[in-house]
Amino acid sequence: MADAQPGIFALGTRSHHHLEFDLLPGTEPAAVIDALRGLREPPVTAGGENIVLGFGADLWRRIAPAQAPDVLAPFTGVQGNGRGMPATQHDVWVWIHGTGPDILLDTARAVAHALSTCAVLALEQAAFVYRDSRDLTGFIDGTENPPVFEAPEVAIIPDGETGAGGSFVIASKWVHDLDRFHRLSQADQEGVIGRTKPDSVELADAVKPATAHIARVVIEEDGAELELFRRSTPYGTVREAGLYFLAFSADPTRFDKMLARMFGVSGDGLHDQLTDFSTPVSGAYYFAPSLQALASQFS
Ligand code: HEM
Repeated sequence: MADAQPGIFALGTRSHHHLEFDLLPGTEPAAVIDALRGLREPPVTAGGENIVLGFGADLWRRIAPAQAPDVLAPFTGVQGNGRGMPATQHDVWVWIHGTGPDILLDTARAVAHALSTCAVLALEQAAFVYRDSRDLTGFIDGTENPPVFEAPEVAIIPDGETGAGGSFVIASKWVHDLDRFHRLSQADQEGVIGRTKPDSVELADAVKPATAHIARVVIEEDGAELELFRRSTPYGTVREAGLYFLAFSADPTRFDKMLARMFGVSGDGLHDQLTDFSTPVSGAYYFAPSLQALASQFS
């Protein structure tokens, strides 16, 4: 049986660090593997940390063509009427999460140093768990996430399929307009999300706007809801704050379908009200291969 990278499901870590890299022109895939080889067991383990590796479709297909599902593709962007998610596809994504930002910074620097011979850092974002797993809007994020014993079914390609044990990843940095959001009454804020603010209770259908976030991303097909396993974390300073949206799925078309409904390109003329208060400034799809697929490259 193929095993997923365990860091995908390691919950309870309050500090996170994301790195996205572009390969230098002419880089051979073997050079990337050589650079990453030493990182599976990071030198600094005090306090515990997790590293999850993802690759852009083109690079993973060059590294391990037999382990690349046909549907694996780069993110090409979504453009609605005045709102959208830009495609800022990169080649390698490294997610480090653990108990504190000091250890993560050491590892992030080690990762960047290891890759410096073959890639340039294109996006870096440190992030954190805010209070009781709330987004900076103040709403609990993760209420309807599948519990960890069900999450592999949602997020991991099953045995017998190409790329088994791997997961499709969406990573996207959003910048919030918190002042604007917090000027809304609490009832209007709850209408934007579709849940109550203090305790995340879903609004009744009679009061939940059709443009509420959860009304746009809950999609039923053949009587079953399309699910993601989300691991987003807030980031921010006084000047700029938002969410590094991160989700895993066994089927990447779920990302496309949800984004189409959020940005008003699904054909019903509606968009997600959340996109009036937060703007994605990056967008990429990656593939997080199974442990065995990684080990076969690193050995
Ligand atoms: C600024 C960006 C975003 C914020 C602040 C945000 C926040 C939230 C919040 C507060 C919830 C309700 C609580 C929960 O069930 O977790 C939620 C649910 C959800 N979000 Fe987002 N979200 C964002 C972007 C996205 C994107 C880009 C997608 C999909 C590509 C997405 C997919 C979902 C899904 C599938 C649910 C669960 C819905 C349900 O089953 O009820 N979200 N989000």
